[in-house]
Amino acid sequence: MGEKIRGIRRLANQRPALLALLAQLAAIALIAAAVYLLTQLSPWRPSALAAGLVQGLLAASFGHWLGLPRWWWWLNLGFVPGLLLFSGAQLPSWVFLLGFAVLLVLNWNSLGERVPLYLTGSRSRRQLAALLARQPHGFSFVDLGCGPAGTLRGLARQFPAARFVGVETAPLPFALAWLRCRRQPNCEIRYQSLWRCDLAAFDVAYCFLSPAPMAALWAKACAEMPAGATLISNTFEVPDVPADEQVELDDWRQSRLLIWRLPG
Ligand SMILES: C[S@@+](CC[C@H](N)C(=O)[O-])C[C@H]1O[C@@H](n2cnc3c(N)ncnc32)[C@H](O)[C@@H]1O
Repeated sequence: MGEKIRGIRRLANQRPALLALLAQLAAIALIAAAVYLLTQLSPWRPSALAAGLVQGLLAASFGHWLGLPRWWWWLNLGFVPGLLLFSGAQLPSWVFLLGFAVLLVLNWNSLGERVPLYLTGSRSRRQLAALLARQPHGFSFVDLGCGPAGTLRGLARQFPAARFVGVETAPLPFALAWLRCRRQPNCEIRYQSLWRCDLAAFDVAYCFLSPAPMAALWAKACAEMPAGATLISNTFEVPDVPADEQVELDDWRQSRLLIWRLPG
């Protein structure tokens, strides 16, 4: 039994979408059976939205029990109720405008920089921490495009003697990052483009961007970072510059950490 649960938890790391689908289907089956029984045994008819909300709660709880990361809880909770709301209800047009505005301030850099928002996974975080443990005491680290700074804040807590900086230009992730890190004394969040961040001040620069900016970022790192400093890219390669070291993460995104030591 313990081995089965460990297997499911491994699957949650490697194929979270598949497990979320299973959680959804199991919750739909349970709710369908419960509604059928209810309608047979009593005159009470739950509304579609009420049934959807209970289904969402069940799916979120199943997903949590199966070991899905925390943010899947909200996705599982809102998926079916969201479908019901958007398919049936006559929503006022400002709801769609608001949805668009939220997507825009969240994914601000998708168009101009061709870098959308997605987050470093827990496996990458653990490997990053292992790499940082090799750095001298009091090192400095920058996350170039820190998003809502979950990774940055976690690392700052783990290495209290080191200095952590996150730069971000998407308004909503920046605001979340600033709020989350304001009480972490060794962590600073700047509303700043990564292209305006002087990398000379850092021993380690970390990025999880997209293929688009990697060549220019490499040129910037070579021009600014001191000899022996480290550039770590989650997943995306620098064209024609093989990494000095690679850490395979064996997760559902097939991510890896690519590590370069700067020539200076
Ligand atoms: C894929 S997310 C990675 C978030 C975070 N570093 C992590 O690993 O969890 C990339 C982030 O880079 C930000 N970004 C893209 N171009 C940027 C730029 N020129 N300056 C600052 N941030 C940028 C995006 O807004 C996005 O939040």
